[in-house]
Amino acid sequence: MPFSSRRIHLLTGKGGVGRTTVTAALARATAHQGRRVLLLEIGDPDEGASPLARLFGREHLPIEPTALEPGLFGARLWAPVGHEGFLKAHLPGGALISAALRSKALARFLVAAPSFHEMGLFYHLLMLLEAKPAWDQVILDMPATGHALALTGLPEVLLRLIPRGPIAKAMRRGQAYMNDPTQADAWVVALPEQLPVTEAIELMAGLRATGMTVGGVLLNRMPADPFNATEQVELAGFMAGRAVHGEVAWGRLVDARIAAARLRAEEADLPILTLPEVPAEPDHALVGPLCEVLA
Ligand SMILES: Nc1ncnc2c1ncn2[C@@H]1O[C@H](COP(=O)(O)OP(=O)(O)O)[C@@H](O)[C@H]1O
Ligand SMILES: [Mg+2]
Repeated sequence: MPFSSRRIHLLTGKGGVGRTTVTAALARATAHQGRRVLLLEIGDPDEGASPLARLFGREHLPIEPTALEPGLFGARLWAPVGHEGFLKAHLPGGALISAALRSKALARFLVAAPSFHEMGLFYHLLMLLEAKPAWDQVILDMPATGHALALTGLPEVLLRLIPRGPIAKAMRRGQAYMNDPTQADAWVVALPEQLPVTEAIELMAGLRATGMTVGGVLLNRMPADPFNATEQVELAGFMAGRAVHGEVAWGRLVDARIAAARLRAEEADLPILTLPEVPAEPDHALVGPLCEVLA
């Protein structure tokens, strides 16, 4: 499996492409290989149940890593955990810090500080990456595109603002993981259609600009293509300009082929995996079949 050589994988992509479902399938497939896997999400419990947790029959992923399945643990990144962890590691007086962080006025002030939220998430992730015993694999279901780039680009932004001191040190420690191509990569989940593929290509450029290595693309919901190359050419001639039953499905097939080919042409050296459209109900029943494809 292409994911095994690095320890840290960020799964990114536009909302709705199946990122969460694919992340869950990937985490399960990795755990089935006998690794201790930590599956992470960035969720706000105030915003209702977590779609990722739901795939494992829970409302939320807890803050402490908790077993979801054999070998597979889940946890939620939560900015206040990172803030508290950072302050406790750098200032004396742990109890005072906890009390201060519970102050509503201080919280209001801090939330308004630029990048404060991302900083907490980033530091919480760093704490989990450095936890003992070390996780074999850490797989993170990233938030949608803009927020994902805010997080991967955080160290550089902060290092420009505050190049010295404990925050800078923590950011460099984080960069030593996230920007090391032997340790971490980002996978982009996309749909095999024209616009989503264009967006995926842009997202990869954005990720690389923040120093991330792109591990590959997961083209999700690839329609089953029952035709071989010769049949495709013959059918293309037949379907052209005709309004017949099956036109929509055919159009989708053609679009998927073109989009996948364009992606392969633009990213010739990158692993591009396809995952099939799974006709299954309810949602959590998708994880099993996708996991088998990934394995
Ligand atoms: N390979 C697939 N085949 C069929 N449906 C899928 C597939 N992948 C995802 N879905 C469905 O697409 C919807 C969005 O998936 P989700 O993982 O929540 O996306 P995201 O996290 O990108 O917003 C869900 O209803 C999910 O069941
Ligand atoms: Mg999601």
